[in-house]
Amino acid sequence: MYLYTKILIFSLLFFLSLKVYSESRDEIIEKGRKLYNGAGSCVACHMQDGKGQKGTIPPLAGSDWLKESSARSIAISLRGLAGPIKVNGKKYYSAMPPQLLFNDEKLAYILSYVNNAWGNKENIITKKQITQARKELPQDVFTPQTLLKHFPFDKKYSKKNGTFTPTYDDTLGDISSPVLYRTFMPGASPAAFAVALPGNHYYCWDAGESRLRYVWTKGGFIKANQAHWSSNGKPVAEFNGTPYYRAQTTLLKNETFEELSKTNMQKPIYDTSQAVDFPIFIEGIKEAPSFLGYRLMDGFPIFRYSLGKHTITELIRMNSEKTGIKRIFTISPPTKMTFKLTPTEKASMHSDCGKIKPDGTLSLSSSESSKFSIIITPKE
Ligand code: HEC
Repeated sequence: MYLYTKILIFSLLFFLSLKVYSESRDEIIEKGRKLYNGAGSCVACHMQDGKGQKGTIPPLAGSDWLKESSARSIAISLRGLAGPIKVNGKKYYSAMPPQLLFNDEKLAYILSYVNNAWGNKENIITKKQITQARKELPQDVFTPQTLLKHFPFDKKYSKKNGTFTPTYDDTLGDISSPVLYRTFMPGASPAAFAVALPGNHYYCWDAGESRLRYVWTKGGFIKANQAHWSSNGKPVAEFNGTPYYRAQTTLLKNETFEELSKTNMQKPIYDTSQAVDFPIFIEGIKEAPSFLGYRLMDGFPIFRYSLGKHTITELIRMNSEKTGIKRIFTISPPTKMTFKLTPTEKASMHSDCGKIKPDGTLSLSSSESSKFSIIITPKE
């Protein structure tokens, strides 16, 4: 009797599994269509007709990025993509956050739909492919460069598409979501990010040294140089504005804010190994910080790095009045610490935990350090 029950259960399971795998192509695509068009799904940005949104969100209809390699679109969906790309010959630079709403099965349906909607004719994607990719892909958000290194274009498509080099014409107007560039910036190590926030405040965050370098608002975002993706430290990006905040750097002690923004392709990026002025001090920790990567939250990068046994994150948004920036930190495990800001006539600074002294020092207790903010506002 017991044996019969077992056989019954097994044959039932077998039958059920057969049923899943025997789903027809049309059934799979139809399920994917519903999921694609659901709340919070791809449709929010790429739109129902798969055409995206002019100038800001690239199309999935006819996109060459779906071609040749299913692994590429799986990777984009699971980890996100940030940086300049061309899709069907048109330029976009924006950021797509990782799509974390969907389990492996649902994402497989969605991508199968995307691959076969709006005249696209690509593969059906299986749950197994997604499961494996989720396990094996590097954790960080992809840039076009890191993505195409893993999943290069076939020659046929690489001519039309692939990443593009921003030129002097590519300065941004008003933006509604953050724009993130991995580029060479003046006064920063070669591993710098330039980020534009909605509200048109901009900052340079240096992943080489895990720290904010400077913030500006006037004069617009960077004018990246033609060759900057492939060059060896030079030339660097330029911008017109003068930073209203600039973190102190011993290496460029005598350089004024104005000089920084007038960087004229001659100035070297500096050697990070010599900088000794990391702004966070925790007793007993002598080693340099180590950059762990970044994730996007609503398109805003959250930078993550370690300092000794502590993991620190920094998220930068506009303050609530939209007059300056708010740097939100977490430290785990929390610890008594000192933050050394650089006082400046050009901006006022305050924290939601404790008072910043005239010399720029902010001392926090262990419990305060677990989450605190620093607000920096330019003085007019
Ligand atoms: C919050 C808006 C947003 C959502 C939601 C979103 N994307 Fe994207 N997607 C973008 C942006 C912006 C880019 C371009 C990124 C860049 O410029 O580096 C992009 C790029 C892509 C690309 C590569 C370029 C292209 O057009 O083919 C693919 C493939 C893609 N998205 C698929 C998806 C899928 C599948 C989903 C849903 C599971 C999804 N996206 C959800 C904003 C979004």
